[in-house]
Amino acid sequence: MDLGILISGRGSNLEAILEAIGSGKLDARARLVLSNRPDAAGLEIARRHGVPTAVVSHRGHSSREAFDALVVARLREAGVTTVALAGFDRIVSRVLIDAFRGQVVNIHPALLPAFPGLHAQRQALEYGVRIAGATVHFVDEQTDHGPIIAQAAVPVRDDDDEASLSARILSEEHRLYPAALQQLACGAVRISGRRVIGGQP
Ligand code: GRF
Repeated sequence: MDLGILISGRGSNLEAILEAIGSGKLDARARLVLSNRPDAAGLEIARRHGVPTAVVSHRGHSSREAFDALVVARLREAGVTTVALAGFDRIVSRVLIDAFRGQVVNIHPALLPAFPGLHAQRQALEYGVRIAGATVHFVDEQTDHGPIIAQAAVPVRDDDDEASLSARILSEEHRLYPAALQQLACGAVRISGRRVIGGQP
């Protein structure tokens, strides 16, 4: 699996993926880390791991599709076959989804279909759920939507605030994302209707 990882910021999921590759837990090659923001801390993580980086600003394009066409070009040049969104703060269009059909995945810090969109952990606390978590899913045209590959649950504690719940979910993300990608890499995953068979590590 030739991975392209799209980021916008911190890059802790990126780091978990690169470490899983380094330790042999994830059978993939990281071909490119692409950020839409030049100051994304994750770019430094990529450089430290010797992974090529690219910055394609989302600003100054006539449309989301025009931006995505540039992103697709950079990913293709780098030999990417599978695209992992890891804290990428843009909604992707059909241009990217169609270019890597069935090979674009995302991680979201909630048990989808609950709490898509921004501030998922805050939404979970405000709603009052007792179980929160993270979801890895194939990407379709809707935000935080598409066939679910794998999920992990964490308890919500009485004294949680957004920071403590986010930290508990994030540590599960770091385990779940590389493990779900490994299921993809070894061909264990297939789609049956709306369901994904074989993704849950
Ligand atoms: C993660 O919580 C991920 O689920 C969400 O954005 C955050 C990215 O964090 N999509 P990081 O950049 O991987 O540290």
